[in-house]
Amino acid sequence: MTTQRTASLTLDGKTTEFPVLSGTIGPEVIDIRTLYGKTNTFTFDPGFMSTAACKSSITYIDGDKGELLYRGYPIEQLAEHCNFLETCYLLKNGELPNQDQYDDWEKRVKNHTMVHEQLTRFFQGFRRDAHPMAVLVGVVGALSAFYHDSLDINNPQHRLVAAIRLIAKLPTIVAMTYKYSMGEPFMYPRNNLDYSANFMHMMFGTPCEEYKPNPVLVKALDRILILHADHEQNASTSTVRLSGSSGANPFACIAAGIACLWGPAHGGANEACLKMLEEIGDVSRVGEYIKRSKDKNDSFKLMGFGHRVYKNFDPRAKLMRETCHDVLNELGLHDDRLFKLALALEKIALEDEYFVEKKLYPNVDFYSGIVQRALGIPVPLFTGIFALARTIGWIAQWHEMIGDPEQKIGRPRQLYTGAAPRTVTPLAKRP
Ligand code: CMC
Repeated sequence: MTTQRTASLTLDGKTTEFPVLSGTIGPEVIDIRTLYGKTNTFTFDPGFMSTAACKSSITYIDGDKGELLYRGYPIEQLAEHCNFLETCYLLKNGELPNQDQYDDWEKRVKNHTMVHEQLTRFFQGFRRDAHPMAVLVGVVGALSAFYHDSLDINNPQHRLVAAIRLIAKLPTIVAMTYKYSMGEPFMYPRNNLDYSANFMHMMFGTPCEEYKPNPVLVKALDRILILHADHEQNASTSTVRLSGSSGANPFACIAAGIACLWGPAHGGANEACLKMLEEIGDVSRVGEYIKRSKDKNDSFKLMGFGHRVYKNFDPRAKLMRETCHDVLNELGLHDDRLFKLALALEKIALEDEYFVEKKLYPNVDFYSGIVQRALGIPVPLFTGIFALARTIGWIAQWHEMIGDPEQKIGRPRQLYTGAAPRTVTPLAKRP
């Protein structure tokens, strides 16, 4: 990181210099950590439009080029050559595993796929019609009440075990959430199956007959997990980092990330997108909904379109579109009503002046909902699948933060716009 260049700020005739830092690639940053001390002013950047909140060597996004790299590797190559567990190893450790490292990693993860038996009883406290994300926030947070031997964030061994537990147990917990909602028995994990195949077994298997996962569908699920595994400093990741900055335990931090992910502007978009397609219902009504999405007086937005960072295309959307075709072909669903509708909507929106001008392209959630629906995953669980995939990203980012010697508790400041100091009038004397 070089610090030769500086940026100067002139305020009331006084000029102050600030170092300019460069990363490996991407925009340089102006280091304003001393701004308050030197000038008695803060910067104002709600929504973090121009603020780099941390240094990170995990994921890189070039929104203009439509580029996404995990540890330097393009997402397209990872989606083609690696499985999800390899991707997890890469995100967490910085390098792709060789065969021995992979075998060891897989064995460690498989050692932790079951949950404490008492945790299974935790589910009974929820209504069966509870939203899966509400259940996930609660159950994942509750892991800290069960695994006391991995809560010391200053102990590297505890941190590693907590990370492996989270990667291993999330599929079990997400599948249990589904089974509970259906009134079906929980399925124990099967460690002879690969990560994604095991998840499908726990979701769709029953004790009555053996479930044989379809390899095309397993691959599609694995790809969904790879594409959602990390995405730099998005809202939920920043939530995990901010929670972790206080020293909170990793299970609590990941539960906080899940809560943030639930929102429709973030991970909830795939569910919202499918609901929107259902509501539109027919190609003949696409025009009406596009018109609504452009109306300033209407809060409706085209779900699955637009992204804070990608202003060209979302590389994940391209890969998901491909997977969508594979899955629908495999299942003989190429005439699927919602998929055809999605393609029509995509075509019209991509040609529309408003969408072109504002650089609004389909994002990953536009297609992932259709794929998940075809896999048999119920719509309310879509964001839960996203949470399962993103857990590794959250963990890798949390680990990086804990190991950063410059790490401090996150504490944004504000531009106060409330009342100036005033005197309390006792209740009896208030007008
Ligand atoms: N439909 C219609 N107009 C839109 C849309 C949309 N989907 N997205 C943005 N706009 C308009 C927005 O109204 C604004 O117009 P104006 O400049 O006239 O005020 C302009 O485009 C810029 O949008 P913004 O909301 O200021 O952009 P942002 O970077 O703050 O928001 C976003 C990004 C993803 C929250 C937003 O595009 C959105 O709400 N999209 C729909 C929800 C969605 O699909 N979210 C999933 C994101 S990808 C998954 C993930 O990473 O979590």
